[in-house]
Amino acid sequence: MAAMRRLAPELLITAKTQRWSPEEFLRTLIDAEITAREESNARTRMRVAAFPVRKRLDEFDVAASSIPKATFDYLSSLEWIRAAENACFIGPAGTGKSHMLVALGVAAVEAGHRVRYFTAAELVETLYRALADNSVGRVIEGLLRHELIIIDELGFAPLDDTGAQLLFRFVAAAYERRSLGIGSHWPFESWGKFLPEHTTAVSLLDRLLHHCHTVVTNGDSYRMKQARRKGANTTK
Ligand SMILES: Nc1ncnc2c1ncn2[C@@H]1O[C@H](COP(=O)(O)OP(=O)(O)O)[C@@H](O)[C@H]1O
Ligand SMILES: [Mg+2]
Repeated sequence: MAAMRRLAPELLITAKTQRWSPEEFLRTLIDAEITAREESNARTRMRVAAFPVRKRLDEFDVAASSIPKATFDYLSSLEWIRAAENACFIGPAGTGKSHMLVALGVAAVEAGHRVRYFTAAELVETLYRALADNSVGRVIEGLLRHELIIIDELGFAPLDDTGAQLLFRFVAAAYERRSLGIGSHWPFESWGKFLPEHTTAVSLLDRLLHHCHTVVTNGDSYRMKQARRKGANTTK
């Protein structure tokens, strides 16, 4: 009721001078409280999401990327999150995978969803720690309170057998319940490179890809393009 308490004295004066009905006064006060709470909840969700950078969908130059406009629009609609489907961004460094994952995450938070960003290494480390005190199941259930869990940089570092098993357990638990947003520079057929057990790789991909929007980002690195453009400008 903090907003109500803060606003009440001033609002009371306005209500008196403008001869508001008691209903009108109360409704205004309650609306202010609801708005304040929603804003505070959104701020909390944004903090909990742990985005490494702040990126927005309207900052993404779709024409400069290999992502079809229709795919971009569909993903931006967040419909896939409501349907507990996945989105996988596959492509080389600097092609906008993390930008898209974070921007979709930010949009989801703003739309009222709970979101959590991890790099694959962070997620596996979290699960490893849970293994040490026998709480993997509980930790996974906790993570699945989020409607969208982002696993970025999958395949940067190879996983050991236990790490791969833990990742599989997580993906299997999220299957058809929650949305996963994946970023990897490895095409699916190369996932054996960082998932040591062939059967784990196959089972994991099976769950992941069943309801999945796969987006291949390719072309030149946006970072390199920007660097080149800067270079061209300074040599002019
Ligand atoms: N199509 C794009 N429009 C605007 N910025 C982009 C685009 N693609 C990449 N970037 C920017 O280039 C940088 C690298 O992109 P990033 O998403 O981190 O690449 P990746 O995760 O694929 O390695 C970021 O600063 C990102 O905001
Ligand atoms: Mg990235």
